[in-house]
Amino acid sequence: MAASLGQAVRHHWNLRDDIIFLNHGSYGATPKAVLAEQRRWQDLMEENPVNFMRRVLPEALEKARADLARFLRADPADLGFVENATGGVNAVLRSLDFQPGDEILVTSHGYNAVKQTVHFIEEKTGAAIEIAEVPFPLEGPDSIVAAVKAKLSDRTRLVILDHITSPTATIQPLKELIAACKSERRLVLVDGAHAPGMLDLDVPAIGADFYTGNCHKWLCAPKGCAFLWVAPDRQAGIHPTTISHPFRQGFAEEFSWTGTRDASAWLSVGATIGFFDSIGGLPAIRAYCRDLATEAAEMLAQAWGTGIGTPAPLRGSMATIRLPDRFRDVPAQTIPDKLWEKHRIEVPVHHFGGDPWVRISAAPYNHIQEYEILRDSMLG
Ligand SMILES: Cc1ncc(COP(=O)(O)O)c(C=O)c1O
Repeated sequence: MAASLGQAVRHHWNLRDDIIFLNHGSYGATPKAVLAEQRRWQDLMEENPVNFMRRVLPEALEKARADLARFLRADPADLGFVENATGGVNAVLRSLDFQPGDEILVTSHGYNAVKQTVHFIEEKTGAAIEIAEVPFPLEGPDSIVAAVKAKLSDRTRLVILDHITSPTATIQPLKELIAACKSERRLVLVDGAHAPGMLDLDVPAIGADFYTGNCHKWLCAPKGCAFLWVAPDRQAGIHPTTISHPFRQGFAEEFSWTGTRDASAWLSVGATIGFFDSIGGLPAIRAYCRDLATEAAEMLAQAWGTGIGTPAPLRGSMATIRLPDRFRDVPAQTIPDKLWEKHRIEVPVHHFGGDPWVRISAAPYNHIQEYEILRDSMLG
């Protein structure tokens, strides 16, 4: 299978031939066939916008929701489309009824936009953010669970866990974390921004109260395609951030109309899932991406004399590698900008725990020679 991915499938994407794109993780990249499907929906909409919105969209959206639900092993009634994981997190946080003194627990590996949303809730309600300091680099899952457990208290109302962290590219031990966190009074929201496509998901089996995920990252859907899943017994009181006509008509109904918008990204989700079948199927693609990320991370860490942030069992299609010591005092954002300007390499760099880390992505269209160019560019 490996020989038929990488360079052999790159022509399916619009990515320019002269760039080395090692940052699929930030915004994904959408195959041409899926963009064509999105365009088809947009053209259909503009043939007669009224007919489309009133007579075509409701049924089409229901089908898209059913396609996505099958993929996530979920009940379509528990799924709402949102534009992105940030929107899913906002819908939950703004719907819950926090009181002064309540605590919302996040981890130090959590995504900044999510923490900012919690700060907004702090200002509005008097609830307080608590941060579990998860060590990095990581040796295994136990230190993650211990750090979260240490911060739980009687006041913790909500715990926000990432499925895969953004700055440290770590798959979190959700089963152990949720077992430790959840109770009748304490809810769990999983930020699965990176998980759909990268991991084989059975969302209800995860055991969270709320799960939001992006389809526009590792499922390669058009941008603006994401979902919020809510456990049936937690749906009362959860509303989209924008209230519209279907208010009080039930969870799935409310999320199906939040005002006039272009729904073509959501409507293309079935085509996106189908696209992966056409290039070998998701199980083989996941294995390719995971193996490529591991091979590249080990090669880079060895050449730079540094290390990988997270052990192999906690890694998927991304990995973080520490940059050589001479980059310690270089402002993190200048490094990706220089790599882009000088070498046409797109890859993110973050400081974490005082050290600069590069986060590589391994997508179906990537191949090992691209990481070798990154290796040499940092040494040059
Ligand atoms: C862990 C995590 N959560 C949330 C997001 C936000 O995704 P979006 O911008 O699509 O809302 C990201 C984006 O990279 C992320 O990595």
